[in-house]
Amino acid sequence: MTKRVVTLAHYYTQPEIQQMADKVGDSLELSLFAREAEADIIVFAGVRFMAETAKILNPAATVILPDAGSTCSLVTQTDVVALKRWRESHPDHVHVSYINSSAQHKALSDWIVTSRNVDDIIAHLYAEGKKVIFSPDRNMGAYLNYQYGYDMPLWSAVCEVHDKFNEAALTEAFNAVPGKKFLIAHPESPLPVLQKADYVGSTSGMLNWVKAYADDPKAVIFVATEDGILYNMGLARPDLDLRQAPIYAGCQCNSCPYMKMNTIEAVRRAQQGEGLEIDYLSEAEMAAARLPIERMLDFSQ
Ligand code: 13P
Ligand code: SF4
Repeated sequence: MTKRVVTLAHYYTQPEIQQMADKVGDSLELSLFAREAEADIIVFAGVRFMAETAKILNPAATVILPDAGSTCSLVTQTDVVALKRWRESHPDHVHVSYINSSAQHKALSDWIVTSRNVDDIIAHLYAEGKKVIFSPDRNMGAYLNYQYGYDMPLWSAVCEVHDKFNEAALTEAFNAVPGKKFLIAHPESPLPVLQKADYVGSTSGMLNWVKAYADDPKAVIFVATEDGILYNMGLARPDLDLRQAPIYAGCQCNSCPYMKMNTIEAVRRAQQGEGLEIDYLSEAEMAAARLPIERMLDFSQ
C-alpha cells in the first residue's frame, strides 16, 4: 500500500520548500497540524525540536527530519542536568518552557508555550496567583518581565539568530529613511530592539500584522526576524516596502543556519524515507513531554 506522506514546513525554510509543503506555519500551527495528520510519514522541514514535538503528539507516524544537523541554539545552550537543578531550586514556582527545547527539557516543565500563546498563558498563571520560572529564552523572558511587570527568574539561552538584531543598527537604518517607518519583531530579539517595536509577536502574528497593514503605503516596514518570512510577507503584500532589520549597516542577511539545512534535495529524500527518523525517544520520555504540550494545546484551542 502507498504510504501517506505529509510534509510540514516552517516559515523560515526556503520558498521552494514552502511551495511543496502540505502545511506551512509557525510552531503552534505545525504542532496542531502534526497531531491531527493522518499520515504514515511526516516530513518536518524545520528543526529538530519541532520534529520531536510532532512525534510526541503523533507517535504512530514515522517522523523524519531532512537533515540531522538542524538543531536550535536554544536547545544546544541548555544543559538539561543544570536545568533540573535550577528547577529544583524553585520548588514553589511553575516552570514554563518555550517550545524551542528538547524533549527532556519539556519533560521537566509544567507548561510549554510558543511565541503565539506565551503572553496569554503566563497572564493566566499570574492571574491564578502562581509564581513562574521561564526557560530557555532569556530575551523572551526579559521582554515578558518588562512588558507586564513580572519578576520571573529566567534561564539564560538565546536564539543565535534573533540575538544579533541590535538597537544601534536599527537606529541607523531608521535615520536613513526619510518618511514613516515601522518595526515588527519576534520576541526572541533583545529587549532594546523589542522596546522600539510597533508590534511584537510570532511569525504568524507578524505575517497577520503585515496583511492587515493600512497605514502610509510609502512607509518602510522593518522586520526583525529570520529572512524566510519575507517570502510570505511579500506574497501577501507586494505593495509594501518590507525590509529585514539589519544586524549591521547594509546587512539584511540574518538567516537561521539550521532552518536552511532543509535543502530541497534533503526534503525530497526525506519524503522517500531518508533523513533522521525521530525514533530515539523512549515511551516514558514522550509521555512526560506530552503532558505540558497538551496542556498548552488545550489552553490554545
Ligand atoms: P514561531 O513559533 O514564531 O514560528 O517561532 C519559531 C522559531 O524558531 C523562531 O525562531
Ligand atoms: Fe532556533 Fe533561532 Fe533558528 Fe528559531 S531562528 S530555530 S530559535 S536558532
